Amino acid sequence: MQLIDGKKTSAEIKAEIAEEVKKMNRKPHLAAVLVGHDGGSETYVAHKIKSCEEVGFKSSLIRFEDDVTEEELLKTVEKLNNDSDVDGFIVQLPLPKHIDEQKVIEAIDPKKDVDGFHPVNLGRLVAGLDSFVSATPSGIVDLLKRYNVETSGKHCVIIGRSNIVGRPLSILMSQKDIDATVTVCHSRTENLKDITRTADILVAAIGRPGFVTADMVKDGVTVIDVGTTRVKSDQTKSGWKLKGDVDFDEVSKKASLITPVPGGVGPMTICSLLKNTLKAAKQR
Ligand code: GUN
Repeated sequence: MQLIDGKKTSAEIKAEIAEEVKKMNRKPHLAAVLVGHDGGSETYVAHKIKSCEEVGFKSSLIRFEDDVTEEELLKTVEKLNNDSDVDGFIVQLPLPKHIDEQKVIEAIDPKKDVDGFHPVNLGRLVAGLDSFVSATPSGIVDLLKRYNVETSGKHCVIIGRSNIVGRPLSILMSQKDIDATVTVCHSRTENLKDITRTADILVAAIGRPGFVTADMVKDGVTVIDVGTTRVKSDQTKSGWKLKGDVDFDEVSKKASLITPVPGGVGPMTICSLLKNTLKAAKQR
């Protein structure tokens, strides 16, 4: 079994981005909007801002309390759309229940939508046109490429059909030049184990810690674990640790390649966001 090291790969990609930035006559600028104080969101956004510094990007953080109105948030989105100094921006999800997330996403100018969540970008992806691809699927494809995982004609099984991970990944994996045969599984899938056992590449993106067990995979499979659920732990100072959707200890005995949690897909996600921001800056 070989570990797919997302930390190392993301460091390599960040170094490549930093080199590109040095050749530019202005720094790409990523803005992030963060609402409230959710622990996970705070951590993700802090990593995004830190990563911007590492590669020489300019970054801005716009914060609101939980009680921000939808109108105020939409006004901020409009401002960022029209701010010529900002190349791309994200609104960290989830948003408080009183705000319509989809409305906020659709208010973002698709040209600045470096998360790739806007229906225009999703639609362009489906049509095989140039688009911003959402960060997690794009990071997974980068990992597979950098680890020379054969995809052509291979069976890629994705557990999870979200608009952020499962669905866009299924489109990418079946595109020409990747050429995988893709099956998307979800909570209503019957005989899940029979399907996952035929996977050459298995992607778990359901948010249920330890869901994928050894009896669900075949020998030699490549396993990509997207799960990052916080579970209680008495071994860490914070009192919690991140747990993936895969039972790593058991599944790793059968896999040829596997991503750990943390240190697998997570760091790659930020790289993809940086790559999208670089692309947005270059396209202006
Ligand atoms: N919440 C969890 N992941 C993401 C992400 O990639 N982008 C945004 N905007 N919010 C998230």
